[in-house]
Formats: sequence, structure tokens, C-alpha cells
Amino acid sequence: MNKSLFFIGLCLTSLSVMADDVAFGRAKADAACALCHGRNGVATMPGAPNLAGQQQIYVAEQLKLYRSGARPNAVMNVIAKTLTDKEIDGLSQWYASIVVKVE
Ligand code: HEC
Repeated sequence: MNKSLFFIGLCLTSLSVMADDVAFGRAKADAACALCHGRNGVATMPGAPNLAGQQQIYVAEQLKLYRSGARPNAVMNVIAKTLTDKEIDGLSQWYASIVVKVE
């Protein structure tokens, strides 16, 4: 196989891995986050922030800070405590994948 075909193959593989993470994160978000942050990441509860279109690294970082307690919040500390690294990856990729239009 020539080098560029191999490279394209690698890209496609990582794209499909990303898509799996997004679907996994979306299912988890529907079950555990949508009540406050909305099914599409636009918050439905006053006091909860919108997450749609938020930077993936930022969301993942905040979830890890809530999980460790370094970012204190009564609600989010309880919710984040049980999240695995895989769930945090999926959740952050799902929220980052939601397209937000700013005019
Ligand atoms: C009961 C309501 C509720 C649920 C359920 C909930 N959250 Fe939150 N979330 C909040 C509130 C309120 C805040 C603001 C906390 C603060 O001030 O630090 C918040 C903050 C956040 C933030 C920080 C956003 C920022 O701009 O810094 C992230 C990320 C987040 N939540 C993700 C999640 C995820 C992922 C789930 C599901 C696993 C979830 N939340 C479930 C209420 C909720």
C-alpha cells in the first residue's frame, strides 16, 4: 500500500472512532445530563449553563475538576463523581459536535 493511502486509512479509522464516541456520549447525556443541560445542549434549567458547541477540551477538563472536587459545586460534584474517563471523552465530544450558529 502506498503511504498516502495508508494515511487516508488512518484518518478514516480515527473518524469512525470519533463518531462512536459521539454516539456513546449522546446516549449518556440523554440519560444523565439532558434534564438540566437540555437534549441538544441548550440548558432547560435556569442556573445550568449551555453546553452545545462548547470546546471539547474545556468540557472534559471541567468534568474532571468536578469529579475530583477541585471545582466545587453541590450538583455537579455528585454527578461527575461516577463518570469514567471514557464517559467524559464521549460526553465532551458529543457537546462539542453540536453545531451552534452565532449571528
Ligand atoms: C440537576 C441538574 C444538572 C444535571 C443533571 C447535570 N448538570 Fe452539569 N451543571 C449544572 C449546574 C447548575 C452547573 C453550574 C455549576 C457551577 O456553577 O459550577 C453545571 C455545570 C456543568 C459544566 C460546566 C460548564 C461551564 O461552562 O463551565 C459542565 C461541563 C457540565 N455541567 C456537564 C454536565 C454533564 C456532562 C452532565 C451529565 C453527566 C451534567 N452536567 C448533568 C446542573 C446539572
